[in-house]
Amino acid sequence: MQLTYFGHSCFLLETDKAKILFDPFISPNELAKDIDVDAIECDYVFLSHGHEDHVADAESILKRTGAKVVSNFEIVSWYGNKGIDNGHPMNFGGSWTFEFGWVKYVQAVHSSVMPDGAYGGNPGGFIIQADGKTIYYAGDTALFKDMELFGEQYDIDWALLPIGDNFTMGPMDAMRAARMLNCPNVIGMHYDTFGFIEIDHADVQKIFDQTRNKLTLMQIGETKEL
Ligand code: NI
Ligand code: MN
Repeated sequence: MQLTYFGHSCFLLETDKAKILFDPFISPNELAKDIDVDAIECDYVFLSHGHEDHVADAESILKRTGAKVVSNFEIVSWYGNKGIDNGHPMNFGGSWTFEFGWVKYVQAVHSSVMPDGAYGGNPGGFIIQADGKTIYYAGDTALFKDMELFGEQYDIDWALLPIGDNFTMGPMDAMRAARMLNCPNVIGMHYDTFGFIEIDHADVQKIFDQTRNKLTLMQIGETKEL
């Protein structure tokens, strides 16, 4: 499967059977100005929580592509009120088998409100199994001990973890998270987009260099084989 980075916490995961877009925040992101949001094709839009820096482009992409929004019940209902009524609501601990694979919606330690102030349910993350691989997309979160449970339950190949600090885990906690998840490969997200989350890439790599868990910081627009 292939993973393309569109900046901040936005990725496109291409499995054999479906394209899944995570947390689209592209058009307001100065760092992603070379990405043409109207050219992105996807079958699913997975939203971790309701904050603007995760949903900014979701409505336009959902309407243009007819993709299915997958998120917590409150967020899926909020899009339902905008006429996007093919969503798939989930809640923590619940899993569903889609045509491309299996998805579990899991908790995150953060907050969630929609851009208009509506209740955004509780923030989450996704564990996805497709094409023989297991991917954990953590969303915005602090480090939490249940990550150890995820690592015990699932053989996680790739973890997409926030590393920007201030609003989420910083690099030290992300390194700890990778160990708890027992996951060899981490892809960083939620960094550099705005002042509070700017990081020194070399310093962050040094933290991971002390461990067996490899950190990859993708270029915006880059596609990687997972
Ligand atoms: Ni957030
Ligand atoms: Mn965020």
